[in-house]
Amino acid sequence: MIKIIIFISIVINILLILIIKKKNLKGLLNKKKIQSVDLEKLNDIFINSKIDENLYGPKEDVIVKNFCIPTNNKIVGMTSNYEAWIISSLSKVSNTIFEFGTCSGKTTYLMALNSPESAKIISLTLKPENLRNIEKNNLDNKISFRNIINESIYKNFLFTGSEHEKKIDVIFQNSLDFDENRYKNFFDLIFIDGGHTYSVVKSDTQKAFKMINKNGIILWHDYVPGKTSAKDVVKLINEISLEKKIYSIKDTSLCYFKNEI
Ligand SMILES: C[S@@+](CC[C@H](N)C(=O)[O-])C[C@H]1O[C@@H](n2cnc3c(N)ncnc32)[C@H](O)[C@@H]1O
Repeated sequence: MIKIIIFISIVINILLILIIKKKNLKGLLNKKKIQSVDLEKLNDIFINSKIDENLYGPKEDVIVKNFCIPTNNKIVGMTSNYEAWIISSLSKVSNTIFEFGTCSGKTTYLMALNSPESAKIISLTLKPENLRNIEKNNLDNKISFRNIINESIYKNFLFTGSEHEKKIDVIFQNSLDFDENRYKNFFDLIFIDGGHTYSVVKSDTQKAFKMINKNGIILWHDYVPGKTSAKDVVKLINEISLEKKIYSIKDTSLCYFKNEI
């Protein structure tokens, strides 16, 4: 009997060690290759002000207009509420904004709701008719390519018909064909959340670096090491972080580059 108990406990211990090692191995493989930073590093507006000894709270600069979409609405490709608040707050101090990938227009709407009255927002996206002209490159992840098709389903957006629509220009075009030279050093804020395949995210990133203004900010969505559909985004950001100062923001899938001159 004792021998059986010893045998079972040895087997259980071996199993536990294997489970822990597998977890560590997974953690090591999916480790973020770029530095994770607190939100305060992105912009001073995110530095909380002291209310009491043990209480710090948001400054007026980051109190934003917001709305949420219930999950039963089945909208695809959205940011988290925390990410949406970060983008809304940055929009308050941005006059020229560019978004790769409109989808439902949730983020575009938040940008319009929170940016200054004179702000201009351009959002570039695909509608179902445009899908005839898209092609998968050899380097592109299959699932990310499939997602481009699944997410290119909207022709109207959450902001359509609202008074804020006047700030927004939606361009239906494959971003690979978009001519960025019209907008050199023009945008204060660029959000890269279009096609998540390597060829598209690489091209969007190269264009964003040309279009970003002095002191402007480029944000990428979906830097999630280990997530299959984000594989190409992670690969590309890891590659460019060898040349550019790119940080990931703690507790988000956002990465950013600040064009500090
Ligand atoms: C993840 S969704 C964008 C979500 C949106 N930014 C938001 O926060 O709600 C991806 C969008 O990128 C667009 N897209 C994918 N590949 C594209 C390409 N090559 N050119 C332009 N738009 C593209 C899709 O049509 C889809 O609207």
